[in-house]
Amino acid sequence: MAAIFPPIDFEPNPLFESIISDLLVQDYSVVDHFFNEETVLLLRDSLLTHFEEDRFKKAAIGNKTNELVAVGIRGDYILWIDEHVQNTATAAFFSQINTLVTYLNRTCFMGLLHKEFHFALYPPGTGYKRHIDTFQNDDRRKLSIAFYLNEGDWSPTDGGALALYLPEVEGEKTITIEPKAGRMVIFESQKIPHEVLVAHRDRLSITGWLKTS
Ligand code: OGA
Ligand code: MN
Repeated sequence: MAAIFPPIDFEPNPLFESIISDLLVQDYSVVDHFFNEETVLLLRDSLLTHFEEDRFKKAAIGNKTNELVAVGIRGDYILWIDEHVQNTATAAFFSQINTLVTYLNRTCFMGLLHKEFHFALYPPGTGYKRHIDTFQNDDRRKLSIAFYLNEGDWSPTDGGALALYLPEVEGEKTITIEPKAGRMVIFESQKIPHEVLVAHRDRLSITGWLKTS
């Protein structure tokens, strides 16, 4: 006999569900080991190779219509990642990202249609002052994501933590997140002011945004 309600092809994913509930409750989520060690290694190698080949450029603030390099505000070097130029590293990266995006769209109707990601390297002595990830002339960024690719342990004395400034009933509270390898931080782009504290050693990451259009 045919089932009246056919099974739907949907497997709840406990990790993604915990990210979603964190986002609903506190506008951010931190996941350790989002990428396994092998993927982290591939992505780190890929970042360092591109950097040594001089493909990175000094990051700017603002977007294409009002871009400004302001070293006092942000000191990282970046390289945008093209999803269509695939190697083992980026294939593993985008496959996991796309699974997450599909899940968010199916469960939360977020309408995330576009994404953009870049490698980033902050040399010692640099950070990125307090800011919000949306531009005055463009609010399509909905979720900001950072993945960390640093080698070995990251100790508090290495600096370079991501500070999130969270509203409280009165004032705000600051939480700091160390850029440990394999860790992912995801947060609401339009809601959370944040800052990359000055790093005292090279700080390697991939940063990106999920956008509605
Ligand atoms: C950014 C940013 C955070 C981080 O690139 O806009 O805030 O932890 N990055 O790298
Ligand atoms: Mn930012």
